[in-house]
Amino acid sequence: MQLVQATSVFLAAAGSVIASPLHSRNTTEKRYAILDNDWSPTGFVPYLMALDAGVEVLGIASSTANTWQKQCAYHALATLEVGNLGCIPVYYGSTYPIINTPELFQAWEAVHGVLPWQGAFKPYNSTAEALGFDPTSGPDPNRITEGAFVEGLPNITAASGSAAALMVEQVRKYPRQVSIYAAGALTNVALAVKLDDEFASLAKELVIMGGYVDVNMLQATGDFLQADINSDINLMIDPEASKIALTAPFPDIVIAGNVANQVMATQEFLDEVYEVKNPYSELFHTYYAAEAFFPYWDETAMALLVDPSLNLNSSTLYLDVDTAYGSPSYGNIHVYQKSLVPPNVRNVTYVHEIDTERLKAMMKRSLQYPKSCGDLGW
Ligand SMILES: *[C@@H]1O[C@H](CO)[C@@H](O)[C@H](O)[C@H]1NC(C)=O
Ligand SMILES: *[C@@H]1O[C@H](CO)[C@@H](O)[C@H](O)[C@H]1NC(C)=O
Ligand SMILES: *[C@@H]1O[C@H](CO)[C@@H](O)[C@H](O)[C@H]1NC(C)=O
Ligand SMILES: *[C@@H]1O[C@H](CO)[C@@H](O)[C@H](O)[C@H]1NC(C)=O
Ligand SMILES: *[C@@H]1O[C@H](CO)[C@@H](O)[C@H](O)[C@H]1NC(C)=O
Repeated sequence: MQLVQATSVFLAAAGSVIASPLHSRNTTEKRYAILDNDWSPTGFVPYLMALDAGVEVLGIASSTANTWQKQCAYHALATLEVGNLGCIPVYYGSTYPIINTPELFQAWEAVHGVLPWQGAFKPYNSTAEALGFDPTSGPDPNRITEGAFVEGLPNITAASGSAAALMVEQVRKYPRQVSIYAAGALTNVALAVKLDDEFASLAKELVIMGGYVDVNMLQATGDFLQADINSDINLMIDPEASKIALTAPFPDIVIAGNVANQVMATQEFLDEVYEVKNPYSELFHTYYAAEAFFPYWDETAMALLVDPSLNLNSSTLYLDVDTAYGSPSYGNIHVYQKSLVPPNVRNVTYVHEIDTERLKAMMKRSLQYPKSCGDLGW
């Protein structure tokens, strides 16, 4: 109810909020998005990028990938609050993958080898949690480890209803106008696909972060970081959901897989962003690379959603997900050309290269001059 009301107010003000200089599409056409992610203390950049481009964020959904979804939802709430963006509702996603559990994942690892990045299914470590790491595996998937909230604990609460129900409701309200962004696991998207036969075709597109291809040699010959950043936890934590989502009839599916590793975070860029000081640029500067310098994974996927002209090279190919539990590629993708495609597999846009400078420009502007609820007129 609250959402419906907020939306009509926003529509009345729509003329004044749309218009990104980088936007190559019909700039008067209203765009909506639902952002599903495994949110973290510095995970706000994608929603700031969407808002900067005039995309109305209908809701933020949390998924279990890097940590359990409730902890992710709390990070989303807290980071929205930090920038006066509490008018954007946060919805809890599914706590567990469709089939996978920490026990099944760890049993798979016992056979096929430990993933360098295990996300939420890393074995439980109470010492690490007491020190302020996000929770993994363990006794209660809905526990919150407070020490991880360097951005502050949230004082606002999640909306009622599930992430999957929100997705279905909103694509029916705005047919073919809602982009579904998934930079965590695909569990909620798969649930929405199964909840409503028409969900996928009524969305505008699905844009995901994840789906690496041909990286096995890098995992072997590269250093530990190379193996780590090619772990593909988003798809591997819920292989069945990945298959359901990536074979569903979305008008388009955009895959930011290998390309998401193209642009690495650097201290120079963190410093450059922090030349303009606000709560987001400060959190970004202090914590984005607190553990290591990783690529701009989720930001790359969002940049492709916001402005497809940043895609410098891509292929239309057919993509499936390995759902054989006994396979070392369980949860990884496999790609085909048209003449060799098996049944029930569809075409996707697999991006190979992004415009590095424009991606960084987009991130920088969104972080230095972040939109707040006041600007959005909600
Ligand atoms: C842009 O979108 C608006 C609203 O959907 C539509 O009325 C207009 O005709 C479109 N313009 C072009 C050039 O496609
Ligand atoms: C919530 O309120 C407390 C007490 O005022 C404050 O310390 C904390 O930073 C707030 N949380 C956020 C995310 O702003
Ligand atoms: C648990 O976490 C602590 C703190 O990060 C670490 O020192 C320790 O090695 C971890 N234990 C295991 C079994 O991984
Ligand atoms: C586009 O990417 C593909 C796959 O990596 C590569 O084979 C091709 O040479 C690239 N094309 C251009 C124009 O860079
Ligand atoms: C992808 O598949 C859709 C649906 O079958 C089809 O309409 C579209 O033309 C295909 N796109 C390309 C580029 O092959």
